[in-house]
Amino acid sequence: MHSSLFTPLELGGIPLRNRIALPPLTRCRSAQPGNIPNDMMRNYYVQRASAGFMVTEGTQIEPRGQGYAWTPGIHSAEQIAGWQNITQAVRAQGGTLFCQLWHVGRVSHRALQPQQQLPIAPSVLPATNVRVFIETGPGEGELVVPSEPRALETEEIPQLVELYRQAAVNAKQAGFDGIELHAANGYLINQFISVHTNDRTDQYGGSLTNRLRFLKEVVAAVSTVFDSGRIGVRFSPLFSTTEEDRVYLGLVEPDPAETYLTAAKMLDEMNIGYLSIAEADWDNSPELPESFRIALRKTFTSVIMVAGRYDQAKAQYVLAQGWADLVGFGRTFIANPDLPERLQRAVALNSVELSSLYGGTAKGYTDYPTIDD
Ligand SMILES: Cc1cc2nc3c(=O)[nH]c(=O)nc-3n(C[C@H](O)[C@H](O)[C@H](O)COP(=O)(O)O)c2cc1C
Repeated sequence: MHSSLFTPLELGGIPLRNRIALPPLTRCRSAQPGNIPNDMMRNYYVQRASAGFMVTEGTQIEPRGQGYAWTPGIHSAEQIAGWQNITQAVRAQGGTLFCQLWHVGRVSHRALQPQQQLPIAPSVLPATNVRVFIETGPGEGELVVPSEPRALETEEIPQLVELYRQAAVNAKQAGFDGIELHAANGYLINQFISVHTNDRTDQYGGSLTNRLRFLKEVVAAVSTVFDSGRIGVRFSPLFSTTEEDRVYLGLVEPDPAETYLTAAKMLDEMNIGYLSIAEADWDNSPELPESFRIALRKTFTSVIMVAGRYDQAKAQYVLAQGWADLVGFGRTFIANPDLPERLQRAVALNSVELSSLYGGTAKGYTDYPTIDD
C-alpha cells in the first residue's frame, strides 16, 4: 500500500509531501548565554525543509532538563522568539516542524544545573555508561561523567508534568506544528519506564502500569495544548543480545517487547499522532526483530516513524511491508540538505563529517553542498 518514500501522507491533519523525515538531531549550536535558537539554526532547518516531516533537536523544557552545553531550550521568552523565527521560515518553505521536548533527568552534571544542584531523576541511580558535555570556557567544553542524581519527591512529579504542559504552550506560541516527547535514549521519561532506573515505591514505580504513569500524565497534559494528533512520542526499544549492547546510556529494558507494546497500546488509546522508534544505530547494533515491527503495527494504528541506519532500499522495504509510514534519515540528512531530491533523482550522497556534529560554527552544519552547488 505505502510503497514509496514519495507517497504523500497525512499527520494530525497536516499533509506531508513525502515520507522522508529529519529526525531529532542535537547539534549544540544555540546562541550563548541563554541557549537561544539563532539564525544559523534557522538556515539549517530551512535547508532541510523539503523533508516531508521534521523534528527539532532535543529542546529542554526547563533549565534542569539540560544535559549538554549549548543545546536550545523552550522555557524563556528569548528562546520562544528564536524558535518563532525558525518556524516562520520553515513554514514559508512549505515544511512541517515539530519540537522535540526534552528533559534529561539524571543524564546531566551539576555544572549544567541551576545553582549547581544535583540533577533530578526517578531514583538515586547514577548513569554509568554515558558522558555529558559541560562548558569549560566560551565555545569550549569537555565530556564528563554525570553527577549522581537525587530522587524526585512524589509531590514534585505533578510540577514536572506541568513543566511539560508549559513547554507545549511555549511550542505552540513559537509556531510549531506539533510536539514530540523524548521518551527514548535513557532520558527522564525513559528513566521512569525502565526498571534499571526506577526503584520507586510510590505510584510511579514498581509495576509497568506505574512506570508508564509519568508518560501517561505528560501526554494527557500536553494534549490539553495541542490536538492529540499533533503529538508524537519517541521510544528506543533495544533488543540486546550481547553484553556490549547493554551499554546504552546505561539503561536497557529487560523485556522491551512487553514494555513498548504496552506503552504503544496506551498511546494508541490516547490517540496520539505518531510513534517514533529510534532504532539502535551503532556498528553491529542489534536489529529490531521483525516480530516486534509486526506486533507494533497491529498495536498502534496511527503513524509510525522509524530511524536508525536506513538507506533508501531499507526504507522502501519497511514502507512496503506497512511496518512504518515515515522514515527518518539522521546523519544522511545532516550531510545532504536536499536529501529528498537526491533520493528521487538517485544522485550520489555527501558523507557526514563526524567532527562537526556537536557544537562549532556553520562549518559542517549549513555548508554541505546541494546538487546545484
Ligand atoms: C548528532 C546526533 C544527534 C542526535 N540527537 C538526538 C536528539 O536530540 N534526540 C533524539 O531523539 N535522537 C537524537 N539522535 C538520534 C537520531 O534521531 C537518529 O535516531 C539516529 O541518528 C539514527 O539515524 P541515522 O542512522 O540515520 O543517523 C541523534 C543522533 C545524532 C547522530
